Amino acid sequence: MANYRAFVDEQIAFIRESVGSGIAINALSGGVDSSVVTVIGHRSLGDRLKTVFIDNGLMRKGEPERVVKIFADMGIPVERVDARADFLSALKGLTDPEEKRDAITFTFYSKVFGRLVRETGAKLLLHGTILTDIEETVAGIKRQHNILAQLGIDPEKEYGYKVLEPLQTLRKDGVRKVAKVLGLPAEVTKRIPFPGPALATRIVGEVTEERLTTVRAATAIVEEELGKSRAFQYMAVLLNDKATGIREGKREFGQIIVVRCINSVDARTATVVEIPWEKLHRLSEQITSIEGVNRCLYDLTPKPPATIEYI
Ligand code: XMP
Repeated sequence: MANYRAFVDEQIAFIRESVGSGIAINALSGGVDSSVVTVIGHRSLGDRLKTVFIDNGLMRKGEPERVVKIFADMGIPVERVDARADFLSALKGLTDPEEKRDAITFTFYSKVFGRLVRETGAKLLLHGTILTDIEETVAGIKRQHNILAQLGIDPEKEYGYKVLEPLQTLRKDGVRKVAKVLGLPAEVTKRIPFPGPALATRIVGEVTEERLTTVRAATAIVEEELGKSRAFQYMAVLLNDKATGIREGKREFGQIIVVRCINSVDARTATVVEIPWEKLHRLSEQITSIEGVNRCLYDLTPKPPATIEYI
């Protein structure tokens, strides 16, 4: 742990030096990466760091309220910014995974952050990018929503602010260790990874309010059922296909939900968890009771060849 303490001290010095007497801003999602950045940032800058929770409408059930409350309990004020309409309108009509990711990146960094930066006078954004995000983007596997420099985007020129990435040398396991050193609650340090583009990565095809409602309900069921599984990550995904089924004696052309549960150390590779049949049946029963969903599948694919998320 000693080297993680030294890491925190080094990052505090780095942030103080970079920000000088100015103001910085950061977006907290409640995930371990952005939570660690929020705490290190507040230790570095106090109230010269403005932390926002951007409600993009793609979050899980009760998530915005819960995240704001966890940090309020630690004495860190977080402002909830309602950007739901911005994201939903940017995603309207898009089905290509990378186009969806691009739309989220643009809405986040240019539209919403551009506006916040102008309003607050912040010149610097503290950002929770980790090494795996950078590596996968550079390798062309997928464009993580938070990668800018490696894609040739100069945020200062394009959006009017600089980006600092204090966690860019760590992977997820390292970030968790730093979170522990910082005394973050277990709800944060043990939280399963949840991607920045949120439920949009778990909807194949168009992201609409109705489809978000379906995947959000399935996610709540999966997280409740597998919450004690100690797996690295588990999720529900809404496919773009439909399938024939029967409900109350009538034909129904319904939605298909995939359940995924994997083990991994650092998200670079992943293996599938062997869930007992009994649990799988319980999951299937609950998921197919969501309106319009008549099939539930379990994904047996490790990473590689699959990635963890579906887009
Ligand atoms: P993949 O799907 O690339 O996921 O195998 C690897 C890990 O990264 C998470 N992930 C993301 N995290 N922004 C994030 O903050 C993203 O755009 C993003 N895409 C994937 C994923 O949940 C998994 O833990």
